[in-house]
Amino acid sequence: MIPENIRKEFPIFDNRPEMTYLDSAATALTPAPVIEAVSTYYRELSANVGRGLYPTAEETTARFESVRERISRFLNTSSDEIVFTRNSTEGLNLLAATLADRIEEGDNIVITALEHHSNFLPWKRLTKRCGAELRIVPFEKDGSIHPDTARSFVDSRTKIFAFSAISNVFGTPNDVSTIVRTAKALNPDILTVIDAAQAIGHMQVDIQEWNCDFLAFSGHKCFGPTGVGILFGKHDILSSLPPYQVGGGMVLDSTADEPTYMDVPHRFEAGTPDIASVFGLDAALDFIDSIGVDAIHAYESELATQAVSKLKKAFGDSIHILGFNDRRESGIVSFTLEGIHPHDIAQILGERDICIRAGEHCATPLHHVLSLPATARVSFSVYNTEEDIDRLIEGLKEVRSLFEN
Ligand SMILES: Cc1ncc(COP(=O)(O)O)c(C=O)c1O
Repeated sequence: MIPENIRKEFPIFDNRPEMTYLDSAATALTPAPVIEAVSTYYRELSANVGRGLYPTAEETTARFESVRERISRFLNTSSDEIVFTRNSTEGLNLLAATLADRIEEGDNIVITALEHHSNFLPWKRLTKRCGAELRIVPFEKDGSIHPDTARSFVDSRTKIFAFSAISNVFGTPNDVSTIVRTAKALNPDILTVIDAAQAIGHMQVDIQEWNCDFLAFSGHKCFGPTGVGILFGKHDILSSLPPYQVGGGMVLDSTADEPTYMDVPHRFEAGTPDIASVFGLDAALDFIDSIGVDAIHAYESELATQAVSKLKKAFGDSIHILGFNDRRESGIVSFTLEGIHPHDIAQILGERDICIRAGEHCATPLHHVLSLPATARVSFSVYNTEEDIDRLIEGLKEVRSLFEN
């Protein structure tokens, strides 16, 4: 159950009580305990990690490492497999850079046509550099990847299979564990990479169950602050990768001809991390746990399902909703309205304090496949209500009437 007074937990509504926020897939609003955790760090500790020997520095390091433990429990893995990054994009780029030595001419990397640029461009650049092939698995009508379709793309020269757990445009969850199992049955050496940017905090994610080799997500999409993300990597594979960036906080000996580096995960954390945001992410996971991820998933999916039904009722044949399922399994709904550019929809709704997203949602290849220049997207979270859907529908009716005159 979502607590009735949950909006009170989000201070932005004190400042913007009229705002209808329907863009949580871009970034989620931030609950008070997360803001508090960030500010507590600056007010009470404000020290660096892994360096100082005075009490606030030692406490900061201990708390920072305890967040790593916390995240590993949340994902059902171990703390030496958790790397702090800036966001999903950085985690995926880290992988593409450090896996480069393993890719040779004639190899291939498999992704899907659903991917966000963050899980497309790093692999595109890597294959181009190495003379490898980038293979793109098509999606089903509902916006998911069928494990059997993936079968015909993976072969003995496939080095990496990277795909998103939930598309940021269709919002349909993929059957991650079956896709991973299918790919590994075809080629046991394949490395599987999951872009979980839209999944963490929105559905159950259990790394043991998914059995993926890598997974990346961003704190800001699951109620955390901006500036912190997580890269999970299986310990043995992570340990075999070279550092991504080099600098302070990850060196054992730098004087030798060949410097030596700390073990994972610290080897991948050169320079001072965004410590305050790491503490904020800890509070965000507490917030998620206090509601329960299943309850969040059910609530967001229910709002999206209601939105689909009300949009269809209000706009009939003039609305095209991506994904044919009326029953939704995430909070994301993308659509186009006949004769009105999605940018116009978003701008006019924005003038009425209804915040939605319009464009290609950093998924240009997907929009090419769909032959659409842009789509409008609404995405629901725990602070949304049925009234938000009604405001959206009223707003869209106004947009339409402006274009009819
Ligand atoms: C599926 C998906 N992957 C990756 C990203 C990139 O996230 P970030 O900008 O936080 O790195 C996004 C952001 O919208 C996303 O939706």
